[in-house]
Amino acid sequence: MIEKPFIIALDFPNKKETMEFLNKMGPESLYIKVGLELFYQEGPSILYELKEKGHRLFLDLKLHDIPNTVMQAMRRLAGFSPDMVNVHAAGGKRMMEAAIEGLDAGTCSGSDRPLCIAVTQLTSTSPSQLKNELLIEKTMEQTVLQYARLAEESGMNGVVCSVHEADGIYRRSSSSFLTVTPGIRQKDDTLNDQIRVADPETARRKNVSAIVVGRSITKSADPLEAYKQMKNQWEGITV
Ligand code: C5P
Repeated sequence: MIEKPFIIALDFPNKKETMEFLNKMGPESLYIKVGLELFYQEGPSILYELKEKGHRLFLDLKLHDIPNTVMQAMRRLAGFSPDMVNVHAAGGKRMMEAAIEGLDAGTCSGSDRPLCIAVTQLTSTSPSQLKNELLIEKTMEQTVLQYARLAEESGMNGVVCSVHEADGIYRRSSSSFLTVTPGIRQKDDTLNDQIRVADPETARRKNVSAIVVGRSITKSADPLEAYKQMKNQWEGITV
């Protein structure tokens, strides 16, 4: 993975709006994330187009199914040559191992296998939801640390977690194990549906490997300016 990626979530309903947004972002090659909404609407062709424009691609489809189904699906996804894909750690160790097997099988010889990371607990999940809806008695941090441990043992390259759990994972994992954190907001931004949020500066101080930013940029009146400001904070550049 490139040094400390800043990943932009392209949560748009279709290709037209996605390309309009990217045109506003100028010529720079970006690290972008395609999620469920855009992928279901446009299918694999949008991935090829985005890669052709020189962008790096995180395909965020959060697979969670029986091991064999995840293995076969990952085999197909590897054929799209994303830089990174993901699964839900809640699918368990065997499912995560199967994901890696599928990616290995689907990656062309001579190409790098896409990185595979595991979602621990969604950044929209609150501690009270964990206890009262999911009936998980452990704390958020204990749950996330356990999922991260399982993910690392299963051969995952890292996890998706909130900034608040990233430092604990960083201290308990190998140095190459990635923490990719959504739920990133500027200090005065609205939270929308996110609960466990932090700003880019805090993410940098908490040893996060990569941040994922969606609405703080995509819904901004000036997305390029919002991106530059947040990227500077992430990289610790004061202007
Ligand atoms: O707009 P916002 O910055 O909240 O977008 C966050 C992005 O990260 C969304 O695309 C969401 O699907 C994704 N994500 C998340 N929490 C996770 C995993 C992925 O918010 N645990």
